[in-house]
Amino acid sequence: MGTALVTGASYGIGADIARALAARGHDLILVARGAESLDRLAADLAAVRGVRARTLPADLTDGADLERVASAAYGADILVNNAGAGLGRSFERTRWADEQRMLDLNVVAPARLIHAALPAMLRRGDGRILNVSSVAAAGPVWQGTSYGAAKAFGLALTESLAYTRLLRASPVALTALVLGHTTSQFHERAGIPPSPPLLTLASPYVAERAVRAIHRRRPPVTCVPSLRYKLLAGLLRHTPRRLLALPGLADDFTTAGPGADRPAAADTEAGAAQPVGARTGPGEGRSVGADGEYGVLPAETRGHGERQP
Ligand SMILES: NC(=O)c1ccc[n+]([C@@H]2O[C@H](COP(=O)([O-])OP(=O)(O)OC[C@H]3O[C@@H](n4cnc5c(N)ncnc54)[C@H](OP(=O)(O)O)[C@@H]3O)[C@@H](O)[C@H]2O)c1
Repeated sequence: MGTALVTGASYGIGADIARALAARGHDLILVARGAESLDRLAADLAAVRGVRARTLPADLTDGADLERVASAAYGADILVNNAGAGLGRSFERTRWADEQRMLDLNVVAPARLIHAALPAMLRRGDGRILNVSSVAAAGPVWQGTSYGAAKAFGLALTESLAYTRLLRASPVALTALVLGHTTSQFHERAGIPPSPPLLTLASPYVAERAVRAIHRRRPPVTCVPSLRYKLLAGLLRHTPRRLLALPGLADDFTTAGPGADRPAAADTEAGAAQPVGARTGPGEGRSVGADGEYGVLPAETRGHGERQP
């Protein structure tokens, strides 16, 4: 069956992907910062599914931690680059340190892990890589933020590698999971309101669809769970960009929400800080407080006025 390494497995979509992989008999290496949540999930999967689940607590924005995970990814049969977070604040109002962490998590870490895993998979003649991206990668719907651009990297890298002659002739396959709104802690952690219920997909559903897709003999290069989001992502790719400037078609993070009129002070002490996947207690779903790890200013994230794309 082979071993699957899943990043961001402590809760949210990553935990559900780990559950779906365990249901197919895969042993697991579970990666995230929350060691207790990982331990609980590993014990649960071992008891219920009878698989071997090892935990590898790591902060993927830390270079040394990332290298430890890369060593583990080298031997994995399946790599799931799922860990990610958004910054629900416009680019000119973030601190550079937060942007850097967001890019390290959404861009550098997946690239590093693919770089570690892919050559070994090609040598073994087997392997699957799943990169969790977003419909925000298909067009500027999170306007003013760098999140869509960061998620576009994973989608572009997947396509760039998957369509090569080398990969097309190989049993090794890469798939980008292009997600719309999905139940998880993502929105709360980005400091934005929950997604609209009508547009929200259940995390176990998208996880099952993704895992089913990578188990096909020829996995798709992109997997968009649900017809709604297939249509939306397709439309978005082809919508003339100037239409996305019309009110209501996209979220402009520069013009709405508390703090939008705040002068840019990005790298000063007073600069508006925003958590990047800020740590909460294991699975508790609370945001970090005023003196939190990344200096969150909760008064600014509470009641944030923008709608999610
Ligand atoms: N939910 C949505 O609507 C949606 C839509 C489109 C795309 N996505 C993408 O889906 C993926 C999963 O997100 P989610 O919705 O499940 O969000 P989530 O509930 O916030 O889960 C994020 C996961 O990433 C881990 N993580 C965050 N920062 C980390 C770090 N520095 N090092 C290691 N692990 C870290 C978290 O664990 P710890 O805090 O324990 O480290 C957690 O396991 C992300 O790539 C996101 O961009 C989500």
